[in-house]
Amino acid sequence: MNFRLNGRTVSSQSGTTLIKYLREVEKLTSVKNGCSEGVCGSCTVLVEGKAVRSCTMKVDKLQDKEVLTLEGLSELEKEIYSNAFAEAGAVQCGFCTPGMIMSAKALLDENLNPTEEDIKKAIKNNICRCTGYVKIIAAIMTVAKALRESKNINLNEYKSNIGQSWRRVDAIEKALGEATYCDDVFMEGMLYVSVLRAMRPRAKILAIDTGKAKLLEGIEVVLTAVDVPGENYQGYIFKDWPTFVPVGEMTRCAGDAIAAVVGKTKEIADEALRLIEVEYEELEPIIDPKKALEEDAPKIHEKGNLLSRTYVKRGDPEKALVQSKYIVKNTYKTPPLDHAFLEPESAVAFYVEEVLTLYVATQSITHDHHEICRVLGLPHDKVRILLKNVGGGFGGKEDLSVQHYAALGTFFTKKPCKYTFSREESLLCHPKRHGMELEITTGCDEHGMLTVMAAKIIADTGAYASLGTAVLERACTHACGPYSIPNVELDGYCVYTNNPPAGAFRGFGVPQSNFGAERNMDQLAKLVGLDKWEIRYRNAVEPEMILANGQICGDDAAIKETLLAVKDEYYNNKYAGIACAFKNTGIGVGLQDVGRCRIRIKDSKVIIYSAASCIGQGLATVMIQIVSETTGIDGAHIIFSQPDSSICPDSGATTASRQTLFTGEACRQAALKLKSCLETKTLQDLENQEFEGEFNGVTDPINSGKENPISHVAYSYATHVAILNEDGKVIKIIAAHDIGKAINPLNIEGQVEGGVLMGLGSALREKLILEKGLVKSKFGTLGLLRATEIPEIDVKIIEKNPSELAYGAKGIGEISLIPVAAAVASAYESFDGIERFELPLKSTPYNKEK
Ligand code: FES
Ligand code: FES
Repeated sequence: MNFRLNGRTVSSQSGTTLIKYLREVEKLTSVKNGCSEGVCGSCTVLVEGKAVRSCTMKVDKLQDKEVLTLEGLSELEKEIYSNAFAEAGAVQCGFCTPGMIMSAKALLDENLNPTEEDIKKAIKNNICRCTGYVKIIAAIMTVAKALRESKNINLNEYKSNIGQSWRRVDAIEKALGEATYCDDVFMEGMLYVSVLRAMRPRAKILAIDTGKAKLLEGIEVVLTAVDVPGENYQGYIFKDWPTFVPVGEMTRCAGDAIAAVVGKTKEIADEALRLIEVEYEELEPIIDPKKALEEDAPKIHEKGNLLSRTYVKRGDPEKALVQSKYIVKNTYKTPPLDHAFLEPESAVAFYVEEVLTLYVATQSITHDHHEICRVLGLPHDKVRILLKNVGGGFGGKEDLSVQHYAALGTFFTKKPCKYTFSREESLLCHPKRHGMELEITTGCDEHGMLTVMAAKIIADTGAYASLGTAVLERACTHACGPYSIPNVELDGYCVYTNNPPAGAFRGFGVPQSNFGAERNMDQLAKLVGLDKWEIRYRNAVEPEMILANGQICGDDAAIKETLLAVKDEYYNNKYAGIACAFKNTGIGVGLQDVGRCRIRIKDSKVIIYSAASCIGQGLATVMIQIVSETTGIDGAHIIFSQPDSSICPDSGATTASRQTLFTGEACRQAALKLKSCLETKTLQDLENQEFEGEFNGVTDPINSGKENPISHVAYSYATHVAILNEDGKVIKIIAAHDIGKAINPLNIEGQVEGGVLMGLGSALREKLILEKGLVKSKFGTLGLLRATEIPEIDVKIIEKNPSELAYGAKGIGEISLIPVAAAVASAYESFDGIERFELPLKSTPYNKEK
């Protein structure tokens, strides 16, 4: 087939999809593959001026047609679009951005005076999971204006550091599609890995025959459990997750790997999978965590089906339950959810001399390094991990997914190997948000002052532990919210089932318990005769007060300020709902929690090395701002080096909203040392010198026995108000956030807008459909909200933190999502008087289910 691509004539084999041709033949990196099913829009290009999704378009339809990708825009257009997106803060992980720009171009080529509604409509087929669309829409408006006025868009120069909205250092190259992600990597002689999944959540493996697959032409190696050179089992906290299920053992979830094949092309590798013969003895899966806890339930793991129990008791909850004037007791249910990051998991392994090297997209290169060495049976100096751009994570890229299979492929073939998940495989394999059932009892006195909370939480952690124990802990320890409650009993059970594994997901268990606990607050308010705002304000903690876990609030506690910030909007709207939340910054609870960085002077530039992953939150920019502020060196001379396990100090995972504080403080410490040297020397004098910084967040374990333990180094606080219109549509969310100090306010707004929209999705529609342990959802049926469905999001930033650690910054990544569902449920209760106990909420314009 002959067609025109970016102004030149090209020819492609018939039968292939346009995306395959553009990515694999032309190697165009602006065309991203987010779903292969025509849903996400990350592959958008223009055909004859119209935006089309190249993953569902066959080249056969293109004879003599004009195809335009972002690479084909004029230099001026590229500059205008990328500058506008960068300055507006419209680029986070960046995976959706080139596709978004192409949809915008299709609109603006026709209409240079678009309304906001026109823009939303134009990008409605482009999913962005990071930004909440707000800043993308603003960027497109700016482009339209610039094009109308035939003017370029200039990049701002930044004169100050902390507190200034710098554009992100990686925004321009991401906007232009020049930033590479793992799947954009192609190497000479590269092989492709495919993995056979059991698709039987509970079955005994009786035999595996890989003979025919091995004989297929183009197949280099076929691997099963017997081939794993190191330890077959890996995992974040417990090593309970097999790389391959061996013959004689049971599968525990549908996504379990049986064998991997490494072939010259992906198609050959997939074909070989079909030739592997596996004999199974299928058994009924255990999909209900309550049934899994029954005494005679078959054991999913040898130690039993209870992964962990969290039990916290303070005061005298039994007595308080009897003596409280009002008691509300309800059972809530929240479903498993998928992160739906736009970039499916991908890794590329290759040898550099004797060292097995991997490009990965992960939340922790240090964790990947440990676990891959373990699986390969190699010492740490024989494996090197390099972070590529990460197209979103939200907790879903903490565990190994593709990395160890790519590494095994290279280990055995000595050739570069790539393993990229299809979207289907991504949905099947990576850990989800825990589905939970929560029985929550809250009591108060006649004035509405909280007296007691008791919660029993059952969390379905699926087949493997992942981070389930810690997720359950956070669900329990945050159930009491930002209130002072003297009597508490929290009892949580994290239970193995044959469902897909559950693990970290933005909020780490807190969105689930917050939903129930905040709904109870509304009901208590009604019993007492208070309104929903007043009961929260009366109970909200202040500095020096004691949280329900016994920790004394620091001077930074600003929940009351967030309540005051939304007060007028709450009272002035007929159908308004409200919810509060707090969230830890850092892992805490006595676990190791260290941020590290090393600064090196090279060619008179300041290079920051740290193994902290940016998964779209803008980490590099914030670290540069901190170093610039501390040393007085212009940010243009400071570079954040992409994480590399061979040179970057371990700074822990990008999890628990911790990096700005932990790695940020480490950067400040290192920068202070540099600053002191600069008093007598110049940067040139310091060539090749290094300055190290470390921040160790020391905390107390749960049930430490201390009266006032320090469970976490900091907490962020928030209040959200949701407003409905007369049709029951969510028209506005006011999100007031106490974030300590906003190092980069634009970044903070972007995190809040994105978190709010993700939370809104979980409130209104999102759900991962499972049937007998099998994932039935596709990317297009997860229920993700599109640009045409977003309400106004009003972000209110409250800064109140005298701490000098990282200039007072606290976490924002997770808390932005947490109170949304409860606030929206509260608004629906105001609207129709119906109490809703389950997510997603039913009987709304977004979900007609009763
Ligand atoms: S990759 Fe084409 S729409 Fe998602
Ligand atoms: S920036 Fe849009 S998906 Fe990440």
